[in-house]
Amino acid sequence: MNVADSEIITSILLKKGFILSNHIENAKIILFNSCSIRKKSELTIKNQIDKIKYLKNNGSLIGLIGCFSKSFKESLLNEKKIDFFINPDSYREIENKIYNKNIVKNFYKRKKETYENIIPYKKLDKKITTFLSITRGCNNMCTFCIVPFTRGREVSNNPFLIVEECKRLQNLGYKEITLLGQNVDSYYWIDNNNLSFNFANLLELIAKKLPTVRIRFSTSNPHDMSNEVLKIISKYDNICNHIHLPVQSGSNKILKLMNRKYSREEYLFLIKKIRKLIPNCSISHDIMTGFCNEEDNDHLDTLHLMDEIKYNYGYMFSYSPRPGTYAYNNLIDNVPKNIKKKRLQEIIKLQNEHSLYRMKEFLEKTQKVLIEGTSKKSNNYWYGRNSQNIVVVFPKKINLKIGNIALVNVKKFTSSTLIGEAIK
Ligand code: 5AD
Ligand code: SF4
Repeated sequence: MNVADSEIITSILLKKGFILSNHIENAKIILFNSCSIRKKSELTIKNQIDKIKYLKNNGSLIGLIGCFSKSFKESLLNEKKIDFFINPDSYREIENKIYNKNIVKNFYKRKKETYENIIPYKKLDKKITTFLSITRGCNNMCTFCIVPFTRGREVSNNPFLIVEECKRLQNLGYKEITLLGQNVDSYYWIDNNNLSFNFANLLELIAKKLPTVRIRFSTSNPHDMSNEVLKIISKYDNICNHIHLPVQSGSNKILKLMNRKYSREEYLFLIKKIRKLIPNCSISHDIMTGFCNEEDNDHLDTLHLMDEIKYNYGYMFSYSPRPGTYAYNNLIDNVPKNIKKKRLQEIIKLQNEHSLYRMKEFLEKTQKVLIEGTSKKSNNYWYGRNSQNIVVVFPKKINLKIGNIALVNVKKFTSSTLIGEAIK
């Protein structure tokens, strides 16, 4: 999402006459676009800003962009580490901010900012996969999450403009587009004539209009994912068979405290439906351990849920309170650090076992792999992903090039990569 936002900001600035610098040392203005969804990301951005302090001392302006809490941004400003900051809904005002720094405080904030008429700037660096935002913000109010406070209420983009942008991306040479939103399943757009589109309708429209482009989407919310969406995924070959479905916890008590709006049983039922309607679908997760009041039996519930599902892969975190959220204000961060660490290690270890289990299922099977480039580990291997979003590498034997779909027979695997041989 930050990459997609950076493309919008770049586009706005280029239109105003700014130019992109080829090296940070030559830049008069340096913009950091990141987020503070977890404490760790906040620390990372602080370190990066510190690293280029010498450039600020030499006169470059430093701006901070993205989802940060007010207090974090203001503290960096007070410490004079940055010259200005700008919120995700105010990128159109960025030129003003650059010239006036934070003197101009009350910018006009659009109620529904979708950056609809701004064409994202694409680097054209031979990449064949790209992102496109279809919604901004989130209405879900999970108690741990800062996003609803930094990105605001959810708004959806016009489906016809989304299709137009997809076509532009296809003409630029992109072969795969990932549709982005905090909660893509709650995409909803209605016009003055009551013509309405939900996420399933949007997916179908794009799949039909761009039959040769691969379509992915992220992130799905278990509470909002509909049967209709699953049916559309199974109906169209160009919609990839992968669903990223953050569960956060396997304990009903913790899910309730998180305000996730689904139970463990409902989540498992959804997984069952996915497996039935899209038998080849890979499923990945986000799990957050050590949330307020999480006890050993809640942690076990999470491990058991993982065992039941055996996800292909996942992203695992330990809870860090975010100022301004409901949990920060009303719940106690009472799981000791060492317990959080231990639980996280157990979750990661188990996921690793499950990843191996799932990778084995691909053995000796033929995968359609979109070639994205040369493998980082060897110049003699191509690198790409299959429909399930699993990385596949294979020797560059037959005449193929970046952007081709190769048919690859899987011969070996690690927990994160399939290794095979191209047959076509
Ligand atoms: N602490 C730790 N992890 C968090 N996430 C969101 N908020 C927090 C937090 N306060 C994780 C969730 C979410 C992913 C994007 O980041 O797992 O799905
Ligand atoms: Fe945050 Fe929950 Fe919205 Fe995801 S669905 S962005 S975790 S509030």
